[in-house]
Amino acid sequence: MPAAIVIGAQWGDEGKGKITDHLAERAHMVVRYQGGNNAGHTVMVGDTVLKLHQIPSGITRPEVAVVLGHGMVINPPALIEELDTVRSLGVMSDNIHISSSAHLVMPYHILLDGLEEELRGAAALGTTRRGIGPAYADKYARTGIRVQDLVDPARFRERVSQALKRVNLELTRVFDHDPMTVESIAEQYLPTGERLARYVTDTDHLVQEALDQGKRLVLEGAQATMLDIDYGTYPYVTSSSPTAGGACQGSGVSPMQVSHVLGIVKAYTSRVGAGPFPTELLDATGDWLVEQGHEYGTSTGRRRRCGWIDTVALRYAARVNGFSGLAITRLDVLTGLDQVLICSAYRLPDGSLTRDYPADADVLAHVEPIYISMPGWSEPISHLRSVQDLPEAAWAYCQRVSELINTPIDLISVGAERDELVVIKWPL
Ligand code: GDP
Ligand code: IMO
Ligand code: MG
Repeated sequence: MPAAIVIGAQWGDEGKGKITDHLAERAHMVVRYQGGNNAGHTVMVGDTVLKLHQIPSGITRPEVAVVLGHGMVINPPALIEELDTVRSLGVMSDNIHISSSAHLVMPYHILLDGLEEELRGAAALGTTRRGIGPAYADKYARTGIRVQDLVDPARFRERVSQALKRVNLELTRVFDHDPMTVESIAEQYLPTGERLARYVTDTDHLVQEALDQGKRLVLEGAQATMLDIDYGTYPYVTSSSPTAGGACQGSGVSPMQVSHVLGIVKAYTSRVGAGPFPTELLDATGDWLVEQGHEYGTSTGRRRRCGWIDTVALRYAARVNGFSGLAITRLDVLTGLDQVLICSAYRLPDGSLTRDYPADADVLAHVEPIYISMPGWSEPISHLRSVQDLPEAAWAYCQRVSELINTPIDLISVGAERDELVVIKWPL
């Protein structure tokens, strides 16, 4: 009953989509376990570039069942649009299952996400404004609306009517905004319920049945460890648990059924939105990484902040997730640098050195990264498929990172294309 979890080890956009698609080649099922359309996961198949937001990255393989797990918050109109886009690109798989227990991102969540960001002013979090925070807040306040409500029009209207009692007070009295009506929401959402109904099911049952039958599962995380509501740089985080515990919580898989936890590590670091980022490069090298790596958000198009790899944060990520292996991605982007730096420790404001990641984001904002310098390499590497063929300096860099994180390397991604990968060990 092998279930492998794919987890972003940094601040997102590590290449989880590409690695999940790769693992899906040997899997029967791919389950997304948290987040919503704040995620943007890119999968490349030949000339086709799929930018997936809610649909799991196994979708291009018709024999693989894809599951939108109960830990997700689903935006139904956006999901319909995504399904249509994916189909227009020739991906015909209909092997899709949506958890009836997943919560919905409602129009007022999206509105409130934007209004709350405006209210925060200079302290804005830089959210994707997709309504994710307010949707999870409603889930935990027990005022959320779920997929099972969407496919039952009478119940949907009743739940929305109940929810609007509070939401409209907030909209009108706190934000001086027009109230929303049940009818306008029903008009927008109920037709999506009709279209999605045939995919809606008890996915926990489906997942357990697959495991009973010895099928191989990939649990696909969105966002990443440092954006986790508990482990991340609070409050500059997302509102769910992308880490290993969250994978079980949001998918219907028990911790006892997990066989592998794969940490996806970008060969450098990027972050979108506000919050501390010790190794951020605000100089020409940072600009070079952005341009060389085309570092613009898959969901919002925002320029990503870029910097050197941070093994203090990664060691912490390896511990809290229990990474059994790493997939180092985008190694090709570093080609052409004379030297590559690895952050191996932080100097704290009191002058002392630490390799322990501080739990307080305010402390993290004031640490000074201590770097090890490694020689760079100039040869293109995207065509290489084995460790032996990699430039010596590129392999030495990966090995040093692996040693500092105390986790072996399973995969090295050397390009965006599906086959641009060096496989050391199959995690599934
Ligand atoms: P995700 O959110 O973790 O799935 O990552 P994104 O899809 O948002 O961003 C990763 C970007 O890097 C996408 O454009 C991928 O196509 C691309 N990518 C993935 N792996 C590699 C790689 O090894 N090299 C290069 N150059 N691009 C990669
Ligand atoms: P994938 O899955 C990178 C960031 C936002 C913001 C913070 C909170 O593609 O790696 P939210 O809208 O979730 O309330 O925003 O989290 N963020 C991401 N950054 N990749 C993502 O997803 C992200 N999803 C959210 O930029 O800083
Ligand atoms: Mg992304």
